[in-house]
Amino acid sequence: MPPIIRSTLSLLAAATTLLAVPAQAATVLITGTNRGIGLEFVRQYAEAGWTVIGTARNPAKATELQALAAKHANLSIETLDVADPALIEALAARLGGRPIDVLINNAGTLGDVPKQTIGALDQAEFEQVMAANTFGALKLSETLKPNLLAGQQKKVFAMTSGLGSSEMTANFGGFYAYRMSKAALNIGFRALAADWRGEGIMAGIIAPGMVETALLRASGFRGRGITTEESVTGMRKVIDTMTLESNGKALNYNGSPIPW
Ligand SMILES: NC(=O)c1ccc[n+]([C@@H]2O[C@H](COP(=O)([O-])OP(=O)(O)OC[C@H]3O[C@@H](n4cnc5c(N)ncnc54)[C@H](OP(=O)(O)O)[C@@H]3O)[C@@H](O)[C@H]2O)c1
Repeated sequence: MPPIIRSTLSLLAAATTLLAVPAQAATVLITGTNRGIGLEFVRQYAEAGWTVIGTARNPAKATELQALAAKHANLSIETLDVADPALIEALAARLGGRPIDVLINNAGTLGDVPKQTIGALDQAEFEQVMAANTFGALKLSETLKPNLLAGQQKKVFAMTSGLGSSEMTANFGGFYAYRMSKAALNIGFRALAADWRGEGIMAGIIAPGMVETALLRASGFRGRGITTEESVTGMRKVIDTMTLESNGKALNYNGSPIPW
C-alpha cells in the first residue's frame, strides 16, 4: 500500500477512535430514586449518558431502579435516608472526593395528611417531615460541598412544591407540615445561594408541577397531573439553563417563576 494511503488510513482510524470516546461525562447525584420523579430523573440522565448516582432508602427493594442499573453501566445505586445525618456522612465517606456536577435533592415526603390538620397536629409527624424535606436536603448539600466544588458545573437543587408558595396556596388550608417544610426549604436554599455564590456554586429551587406519583395520589388530589416524563424533561432543561446568574431563583418545570 502506498505510504500516502497508509498514513491517511491511520489518521482516519485515530479520528474514529477519538470520536468513539465520549467527552468526559458529567455526574449527577439524585436522592429518592426508587420511584416517582426521582426514578424518572435517573432514567433520563442515564439514557443521556451522564454518570448517575441514584440513592434510595432501601436499594434491595428498589426493583425498578435496579432494572435501570442492569441496563446502564453509568448508573450506580447508593443507600441513603436523607433524614439520618449519620447515613449522609457515610455516603460522603463512600464517595470520597468524587466530583459531582449536579446534586438534585429530590427525596421528599408528604407525611401523614390527617396528622397535619388543625385539630390533630402531631409533633412527631411534623418533625419527621421537616427532617426529610428541609434539614435533610440542606445537610446533604452541606456535606457534599467538596464534591460539588470538585465538579465542573457546581449546581445544587432543592425540590420545592407549589404548596410551599404562600401566593399560590393562600386560599386553602391543611398540609401544615408539608407546606411549611417546602417554604422553609425555599428560604434555606436562598441563604445557601448567597453563602456559596462567591465560591461558584449555584443553588437553585425547582418545582416539578403536579405530577402523577404516589405522593400526588396521597394528597387527595383528584384531577390529572402531568407525567413524570414531561415533568423531568422540563426540569432537566431548567437545570441546564440555570447558572450563577440565576442563583437562588425558584422555577417551575416549564421555566415559569414560582411566586413566594
Ligand atoms: N408529585 C407531585 O405532584 C409533586 C409536586 C410538588 C413537589 N413534589 C416533590 O417532588 C419530590 C419527589 O416526589 P414524588 O412525587 O416523586 O413522590 P413519591 O413518588 O412519593 O417519591 C418520593 C421519593 O422520596 C423518597 N423519600 C421519602 N422520604 C425519604 C427519606 N427520608 N430519605 C430518602 N428518601 C426519601 C421516597 O423513598 P421511599 O420509597 O423509601 O419512601 C421516594 O423515592 C418530592 O420532594 C416532592 O415533595 C412532587
